[in-house]
Amino acid sequence: MSGAGTNLQALLDASRDPSYGAEIVAVGADRTGIEGLTRAEAAGVDTFALRVADFPDRAGWDMALADAVEAYKPDLVVMAGFMKLAGDAFLARFGGRCVNTHPALLPAFPGMHGPRDALDHGVKFTGCTLFVVDAGVDTGPIVDQRAVPVLAGDDEHSLHERIKVAERAMLVDAVGRMAREGWTVTGRKITIP
Ligand code: GRF
Repeated sequence: MSGAGTNLQALLDASRDPSYGAEIVAVGADRTGIEGLTRAEAAGVDTFALRVADFPDRAGWDMALADAVEAYKPDLVVMAGFMKLAGDAFLARFGGRCVNTHPALLPAFPGMHGPRDALDHGVKFTGCTLFVVDAGVDTGPIVDQRAVPVLAGDDEHSLHERIKVAERAMLVDAVGRMAREGWTVTGRKITIP
């Protein structure tokens, strides 16, 4: 998690109901002092923060991140708005069981500015995507998507906020289904029985 953490908050709220099927064992971030960590602490969940700048190189950070995550033995790693690419060490251990959200309908508008790029392109619908993380930028197999209309008068902020409403609902729904029912990855196809 990298920022405000409203996606994280949606998962924290959902997981308070035991029937949801997923327990959040820890929340990690690539920055300190962010709202998302405060949200996790308020919910009584363990937190850790690992900043790239505190490591000699990116590979060292990636290895430390993989170690920190593995210490909690998660079945599924949710990068709820995590804005860093997973490296080789992380993917070697968590490939196929790590998902991230993106605020656009992939494969359209990957990268850091999904809502802005969709707006600039003039599309009438955009949305959000939950995907299994691979080595590329927003390229992994798609778990779920929600479409969101672009409205006349939208700016980047208003469009992103509308997308985030759909994104939170998608994340809660899909993570719950994955936790309760399991999933398989076959090539680019994700099956949740
Ligand atoms: C989400 O739209 C996420 O996909 C993108 O930035 C936003 C993060 O929102 N990376 P939040 O931190 O969960 O509120």
